[in-house]
Amino acid sequence: MECRLNIKDKIHWIGVNDRETTLFENYWPLEKGVAYNSYIINDDKVAILDTVKFNKTTEYLEKIKEIIGDKPVDYLIVNHMEPDHSGSMLALLSTYPEMKIVGNKKTFPFIEGFYGITKNFYEVGDGDSLELGHHKLTFHLTPMVHWPETMMTYDETSKVLFSMDAFGGFGSLDGGIFDDEINYEFYEDETRRYYSNIVAKYSPMVQRALKKVGSLDIQIVAPTHGPVWRTNPGEIISLYDKWSRFEAEEGVVIIYGSMYGNTAKMADYLARIIAEQGIKNVKVFDASKTHTSYILSDVWKYKSVVIGSCAYNTKVFSSVATVLEKFRNSGLKDRYVSVFGNKSWSGGGVSGIDAFVEEIGWEKIGQSIEATYSPKEAEFKALQELGKEIAARLKTDYPE
Ligand code: FEO
Repeated sequence: MECRLNIKDKIHWIGVNDRETTLFENYWPLEKGVAYNSYIINDDKVAILDTVKFNKTTEYLEKIKEIIGDKPVDYLIVNHMEPDHSGSMLALLSTYPEMKIVGNKKTFPFIEGFYGITKNFYEVGDGDSLELGHHKLTFHLTPMVHWPETMMTYDETSKVLFSMDAFGGFGSLDGGIFDDEINYEFYEDETRRYYSNIVAKYSPMVQRALKKVGSLDIQIVAPTHGPVWRTNPGEIISLYDKWSRFEAEEGVVIIYGSMYGNTAKMADYLARIIAEQGIKNVKVFDASKTHTSYILSDVWKYKSVVIGSCAYNTKVFSSVATVLEKFRNSGLKDRYVSVFGNKSWSGGGVSGIDAFVEEIGWEKIGQSIEATYSPKEAEFKALQELGKEIAARLKTDYPE
């Protein structure tokens, strides 16, 4: 096992797959699992970079023993304290009581707060280094990617960037650990979903971090989730750069909430009009059926968003309101938005989405369209005009 999971020189992957947990952070679906990556450098001094979630501790400790035998672990480098990475820290310290816990000054209150550990701390600052023998590590503080204490560790000897959550993605590592061993399209989708769900709110900090580590000679990117990028690390770096600048592709995401099918009928009609105009990437989501996780991921990918809702107790339909709240919270910018919906004895659906549009500041395309009881000729005509306007704008932005 040691040989197959060798990253480079004396650096080994000791991560684990989690296919049992249903929801990441008890909210985001994990239908395709997730990997918690950890790494060990078996040098004169032994260093481990981050741990794994508590449900995998036994398997994790076995992996460490397989590589270092009876040698002690000298350092645990804590790039990030979220419990999916720090969950085995206490068990590791119990196994290796002399182990120093390396973090920055913002790391240690988290360690004490979560696990009651108050000893063995080894504080490092931005740009500090640590010699392990052959390997020399330097520390780069990258706060708020994704928590205040987050930092990246760079191995100057092997040119490996241990980037914690940054450059990570959902999806268990099913045999393939490295970027040259996997189905790239699957992991691109799962990585964008992870980015939009977990990291996106901190996009400006991601941009700051990219600039900070941009001067390093990075030959391997080793994140705490998803594949290890040893053949084309520039690919994942450029994807994170693109997503954190809110850059989008040609396409339309239509999201609707509908109790009895009238708003759904409007969504399908609009989608057909847009497709007739030659836009191939058109996605339609029933917000009551598809988890916000997947909707957010596609909205992060495509430029145009159309939101539809029936009126529900004088408000936006609940499942659509949940999606809007996630949009607000994610900080996504630079999207087109259009609005439609249906009402009967009260309004509140369309006007509620209009209020959201005003607040979020995306550019609105077309007038809001609201049917009464059910869509009729006037609304279908308005949807036709709207579909053509959306497609025309996209064709201008993305000429063939
Ligand atoms: Fe994978 Fe922010 O933890």
